Amino acid sequence: MEAKIRALKAEKNAVVMAHNYQPLDIQALADVVGDSLELAVKAKETGADLIVVCGVRFMAETAKILNPDRKVVIPVEDAGCPLADFLTPDLIREAKERYPDAAVVVYVNSTAESKALADITCTSANAVRVVMSLSNETILFGPDANLAAYVQRELPKKTIVPVPPGGHCYVHTGFTLADVEAARRKGGMIVCHPECLPEVQEQADVIASTGGMVRGAAGAGEPWSVFTERDMVSRLRVLYPGRVFYEKPEAICVDMKKISPADLQRALECEEHEIILPPGVMDRARRALERMIAVGA
Ligand code: 13P
Ligand code: SF4
Repeated sequence: MEAKIRALKAEKNAVVMAHNYQPLDIQALADVVGDSLELAVKAKETGADLIVVCGVRFMAETAKILNPDRKVVIPVEDAGCPLADFLTPDLIREAKERYPDAAVVVYVNSTAESKALADITCTSANAVRVVMSLSNETILFGPDANLAAYVQRELPKKTIVPVPPGGHCYVHTGFTLADVEAARRKGGMIVCHPECLPEVQEQADVIASTGGMVRGAAGAGEPWSVFTERDMVSRLRVLYPGRVFYEKPEAICVDMKKISPADLQRALECEEHEIILPPGVMDRARRALERMIAVGA
């Protein structure tokens, strides 16, 4: 299957992009593995005719929005992100009515329709920098309320209004203070994703995006307890053999596990499932994404 996938990639001038949470067999077949910011930036740079995104739907939509003239496919159609579904265009419009002077920052874990209403998007790798780049005192920030709390803590002079108030990722809010205690008993550092609950973030030694974890682990020597999806640790172990990483076995993003190598092969063969979005939505969402990319990581 691996040889067939490699041949199809060459024949179709295709690039396969995989998020850090994909299972190892998919990561091994990908041309690019990264966090959502890295995938967005690389999607824009690629010269491929066909872009296959192994991740969840918002990642494939982002690749399509940034590459409107290329064919972008996701191997499994219903690989979604429950966090993205917390934010709707109506919630953004209502919040804008209540805070007319506020800027709208939409996390990339969102639908294309929500991004189209954003002044700028952000990822967990650049959320603080994105908000810092805005002159508005009040920022409407959605859909992740825990990432919003992280930004608020880093930038106390701003007023960050989470939209909606309780948007969250079930994988990351599954980490509790009991996990912190268990990690402290094991020793080493606690490295947590900013989608974790504020009380967990406060106890962590490092807060980082998944790409930040990949880069940060390069310079570290001690064991890490990694508070994010468990296949992040699979990736860290491949990159840094011999290092000690602890994962939480129950921290599984079900949607990130839906794509198998057979699905990837079929996606390359049949060029399915194609991402198609209304052109007006794509144009407005692209402005918000490109503004984010210009701000940098
Ligand atoms: P990163 O941007 O850190 O890759 O995170 C994406 C995500 O879905 C986290 O749950
Ligand atoms: Fe969405 Fe959470 Fe899965 Fe990330 S881990 S894709 S935020 S459900």
